[in-house]
Amino acid sequence: MDISATHLLDPTVGSEVRVARGDPPQADVEVRQTRPTALVTGATDGIGRAVSQRLAGLVDTLLVHGRCPESLTALAATLAPANPGTSVVPVLADLGRFADVERLIRRIRTIYGHLDILVNNAATVGRHSHTLTEDGHELAFQVNYLAPAFLTAGLFDLLLVARRGRIVNVVCDAYRDVATFDQDSPGNRCYNPVVAYAQSKFALVAHTASLVSACSGTRLTAVCVDPGFTETKLQRQSFCWPGGPVSAAADNVLYAVTKPVHDLEFYVQGKKIVQPLSEVLQIPVQRQLDKVTGEVLDMSLPWTATGPLRMGA
Ligand SMILES: NC(=O)c1ccc[n+]([C@@H]2O[C@H](COP(=O)([O-])OP(=O)(O)OC[C@H]3O[C@@H](n4cnc5c(N)ncnc54)[C@H](OP(=O)(O)O)[C@@H]3O)[C@@H](O)[C@H]2O)c1
Repeated sequence: MDISATHLLDPTVGSEVRVARGDPPQADVEVRQTRPTALVTGATDGIGRAVSQRLAGLVDTLLVHGRCPESLTALAATLAPANPGTSVVPVLADLGRFADVERLIRRIRTIYGHLDILVNNAATVGRHSHTLTEDGHELAFQVNYLAPAFLTAGLFDLLLVARRGRIVNVVCDAYRDVATFDQDSPGNRCYNPVVAYAQSKFALVAHTASLVSACSGTRLTAVCVDPGFTETKLQRQSFCWPGGPVSAAADNVLYAVTKPVHDLEFYVQGKKIVQPLSEVLQIPVQRQLDKVTGEVLDMSLPWTATGPLRMGA
């Protein structure tokens, strides 16, 4: 597929438009309801890029997310010719801006109206000093936790009615070192970007645990995967020990994306099911996180609905 002919990438952040030539959007949605569509965040570099390269051969439509238009265009220009049966769609959003995430959600809902697989992969370790986003949150907490939670909330009903919906949250075992998402907790008063990163990942793991309970009895599966220590930009910027190859990490994420649900558990490290920290499984911790998240996003989180979730509800 010639992506340059079928996709218009507006230079304004978050304003990508995929043009289905000749088809009104509604017809496009109907066709897509029987074929898998996946969204990978942070697809322009590192593990997300390698995951996208692998996933492109497996899905009908691959939405590759990034924050830099040039990197996205270059990525799509590589993926599309190598995967002629797949529609590769670049989608732009800075995950450190709620307005961008909201626009991304709206676009996916109105243009596709369908999503089977959401891979929340993008992350940052943040800056050396405590940095607030324009929305007023610590940078790593917003990019690594609040943005994926927002994306999940905004797309949840689509994932819930997918034939085999899956949410894969890419986490990091470093969350075990902090055991809290609360940046004001004792011992965390002095800002450290690696600690802030670990706290954001703690929140993402606890959030996934909350999702797992909510999805019980539905066709939607939520899972966390720690891809393993990997040589990437994020790792080079923030950690001094060497990482493994990106291809192995992508393999691990793909495992979490594609494994049948009966072979999966809530937390996968590499390709092994491991026991998560008991704190993330505590209902009060999950409730507190959901409460904070709902307040920050100013919305009722669909996975906190009382009673079991019903498909199509
Ligand atoms: N590398 C490791 O050792 C390791 C270990 C455990 C877990 N992980 C997890 O693996 C995932 C991928 O990380 P990686 O190692 O592949 O890092 P990476 O190479 O730095 O890639 C991170 C991706 O996230 C994107 N991103 C960062 N901030 C963003 C923002 N504000 N808005 C939109 N996109 C943003 C980056 O975009 P740009 O290209 O524009 O910067 C990039 O595409 C992360 O969730 C990370 O926590 C990594």
